[in-house]
Amino acid sequence: MKKIISPSVLDVKKEDLILYVNKLIEYGVKNVHYDVMDNIFVPNVALQYKEIEDIIKQCPKHIMNIHLMVKDVFGYYKMYRDIGDILTFHFEAFDSLDDLSILLAKAKKDNVKIGLAIKPETKIEVVFPYLKHISLLLIMSVNPGFGGQKFIQSSYDKIFAAKKYINDNELNIILQVDGGINNENIHYCFDAGINLAVVGSYLVKNFSKETIKELTK
Ligand code: DX5
Ligand code: ZN
Repeated sequence: MKKIISPSVLDVKKEDLILYVNKLIEYGVKNVHYDVMDNIFVPNVALQYKEIEDIIKQCPKHIMNIHLMVKDVFGYYKMYRDIGDILTFHFEAFDSLDDLSILLAKAKKDNVKIGLAIKPETKIEVVFPYLKHISLLLIMSVNPGFGGQKFIQSSYDKIFAAKKYINDNELNIILQVDGGINNENIHYCFDAGINLAVVGSYLVKNFSKETIKELTK
């Protein structure tokens, strides 16, 4: 299976953002992960709408994964539905399962691809009924909110379980992991069934074409 990374720009200095994304694309990266936080669902803020707009204007076209760590899912859906290739919301952010179904129906009508993310403490099984309606499942391997945290080992069990469900049900869905990924655990994640691995601080700290190669070899 192809090993693909989606670099996260969360830990890139604001003034270097455009240059970093341009370099990623120059180095062959096709898919970039953009974190959006509301300081409510998680105690932090990340990229603002205007910064993502600037990236669209000043960088070559690429696949934009927007990871929305926000409580107001409908408000942010409205804001981001026209930019970004996949909008990933947190399962835990929805007030009810009805709200989740409403959002999925809206997105289907608008032809917007949706991803669902789950926090480390959330059981993987809760999202299984929704997998046939979404494009991406994001297993968080750290508590969302900050870059540079340590990968939580029990995430492997979740990846295995999700992969099994996806295979058993012949679903066409991207399986993504995010948090604490480095040049070692990334290979275990790919072996466990991840299609798209988010790499944040590890790549920022070791930024080169060679690192990208090493992560996907
Ligand atoms: C954290 C974000 C991640 C973050 C990952 O909540 O969702 O995308 O940038 O950074 P690392 O790879 O440093 O854990
Ligand atoms: Zn993220």
